[in-house]
Amino acid sequence: MMKAYLIGLVLGICLCLAAEFLFFVHGGIPVATKGGPMPFERFLAKSALRSAIGQEAQRSSPISADETNLLAGAHVYRKQCAECHGAWGRPTSATAIGMFPAPPQLLPPKKGVTDDPAGDTYWKAKNGIRLTGMPGYADSLSDTEIWQVSLLLLHANELPPIVQDDLRQ
Ligand code: HEC
Repeated sequence: MMKAYLIGLVLGICLCLAAEFLFFVHGGIPVATKGGPMPFERFLAKSALRSAIGQEAQRSSPISADETNLLAGAHVYRKQCAECHGAWGRPTSATAIGMFPAPPQLLPPKKGVTDDPAGDTYWKAKNGIRLTGMPGYADSLSDTEIWQVSLLLLHANELPPIVQDDLRQ
């Protein structure tokens, strides 16, 4: 009796996995960038990201948000991030328009952008976000540069005029 129950359970699980596999390989899931998210996609992706970042979001910056660091952050932003996340005074790029998920437009600053702690932005810029197009910069930017661009975004709505001018170039 118990044995039959166990065999049934294992068969049931195998069938579910097989159905899922067939669904994937026969094009059941959207792979083009046009079209909306799958059911629960956004919820699952956000939850996984939040738990991966965990306590690291609370990490505070080892450098201060002075003019020199914000200016350096602006240089990093213009060179590495603006194409996807928006340049001040320029329309959204074709790259950004064509991506799924869409890269949030971080500049010019809107309400909400500066709510994320610098540690959260630092983690995302350093490690990237898999399968979204958001690159990880751990191997191409120094730790200091990643903190500088994170501080720039944290203070995006209160930047000194010299940094704003730099971003508008
Ligand atoms: C090739 C395009 C691309 C480039 C270049 C890029 N990003 Fe992203 N970024 C994305 C996408 C797409 C997302 C959205 C990911 C998602 O939906 O989870 C994202 C998300 C983010 C987020 C999370 C925003 C939020 O509100 O949750 C931050 C912070 C971020 N990027 C910072 C940066 C920084 C800093 C740089 C430059 C050093 C950068 N990105 C360069 C595509 C890009």
